[in-house]
Amino acid sequence: MAEHMEQTSVTTTSESECSTKPKETPGSVPVEEMTSKDYYFDSYGHFGIHEEMLKDEVRTLTYRNSMIYNKHLFRGKVVLDVGCGTGILSMFAAKAGAAKVIGIECSSIIEYGQKIVAENNYSNVVTLVKGKVEEVELPDGIDKVDIIIITFFNIEFTKCHKRTGFSTAPEAPYTHWKQTVFYFDQLDLTVKKGEEIQGSVNVKPNKSNKRDLDFTIEVDFKGELSEMKETMQYKMR
Ligand SMILES: C[S@@+](CC[C@H](N)C(=O)[O-])C[C@H]1O[C@@H](n2cnc3c(N)ncnc32)[C@H](O)[C@@H]1O
Repeated sequence: MAEHMEQTSVTTTSESECSTKPKETPGSVPVEEMTSKDYYFDSYGHFGIHEEMLKDEVRTLTYRNSMIYNKHLFRGKVVLDVGCGTGILSMFAAKAGAAKVIGIECSSIIEYGQKIVAENNYSNVVTLVKGKVEEVELPDGIDKVDIIIITFFNIEFTKCHKRTGFSTAPEAPYTHWKQTVFYFDQLDLTVKKGEEIQGSVNVKPNKSNKRDLDFTIEVDFKGELSEMKETMQYKMR
């Protein structure tokens, strides 16, 4: 059909879109030419991280259901997908009946997103724009949108007819965010109802690889049956 033959438009607003420094920064190297060094600076440019997100069914199906089960909210609307990656959520919005979907993505993965959108015949509705959401201009003279899609770790779509949401709490079903339980070194900490554990959790990106995390957990507890005053270090790699 003619409407499906239109090419997905990927608008690049400037070379240093995602960056403050040229070359070694997100989105500045074409995806087909990226090497390990480029992936270090543009980890979202690698399809692997998007594959991991897409395969996380708790996450991806919840986002999908929030749109597909709410066609009445999406029908005929203009939708902005912030950080669209491979364009998956833009396509869900189009499938849910949006009139126009604009996906913005600063990483080179958008080049695959363009192909994926075209292969799935959504080019007539979905336009992917390369750049930082805080810097790009919306295409086609659009100056406002009806719906903004952005991804979060814990989510609940409260306007749905049935509960649609997920959690990354440790007891919730596993997601690619690798929810984690930190075990204390001290095994026998008995806390009675009403007693309070004081402390702090400090988390920072690892110096050598910003995707790894270093944690410091401080616990200061003095209860009736046990006590603990400790500082513990954890690494997430
Ligand atoms: C968690 S991923 C989600 C990708 C996609 N929406 C999905 O659900 O599969 C977040 C994406 O936002 C992009 N991003 C982060 N900051 C951005 C910004 N300021 N402007 C545009 N894109 C951004 C990242 O490059 C990454 O691809």
